[in-house]
Amino acid sequence: MIDKVRFTAMENGTQADYDLVFAHDARNVAKQADRVLGWLRQMEGESPYQISRLEHCLQTATRAENDGADDETIACALLHDIGDILAPTNHSAIAAALLAPYVSEQNHWIVLHHGLFQGYYWFEYDGQDPNARDRFKDHEFYDACVDFCARWDQVSFDPDYETQPLEHFEPLVRDLFARQPNSRNRYE
Ligand SMILES: [Fe+2]
Ligand SMILES: [Fe+2]
Repeated sequence: MIDKVRFTAMENGTQADYDLVFAHDARNVAKQADRVLGWLRQMEGESPYQISRLEHCLQTATRAENDGADDETIACALLHDIGDILAPTNHSAIAAALLAPYVSEQNHWIVLHHGLFQGYYWFEYDGQDPNARDRFKDHEFYDACVDFCARWDQVSFDPDYETQPLEHFEPLVRDLFARQPNSRNRYE
């Protein structure tokens, strides 16, 4: 049985009440890596692709690692599609929101826009403009996002590519979510 706050409306809370809440929040944040790893495992299973969504994530991260990317970038490659678990219709935004407190502005931007940029390869089959990403042509991270899709994401549907297992990347995920979260976007 955990201690409870005394209020029933937030406006009536005291410091003691909120100290309870803050302590609980901190314990909750500490378990974030476990939750994220669990969400990744949920991506195993049925898929129209030749590999599962989890294997796609693992392969994207493996390619990033093989190209010498830094740990944060590899973790972002691993997690770029994790939004599919919660919101398949806007998965990029969900993944970006999850990562925002823990990663650089560039990595956040790439994850946020990777769906649009990846559309370069398939939007024509869905009646959309494959070049829709061009509206960001002058953005400082445009080339990096193009590269992310070209070299790591769009090619990672290959059952024959030697791909690292989730256990290999687990320390990266734990390190990422053990970082002190930045306050950017925290209450937006
Ligand atoms: Fe994606
Ligand atoms: Fe992907």
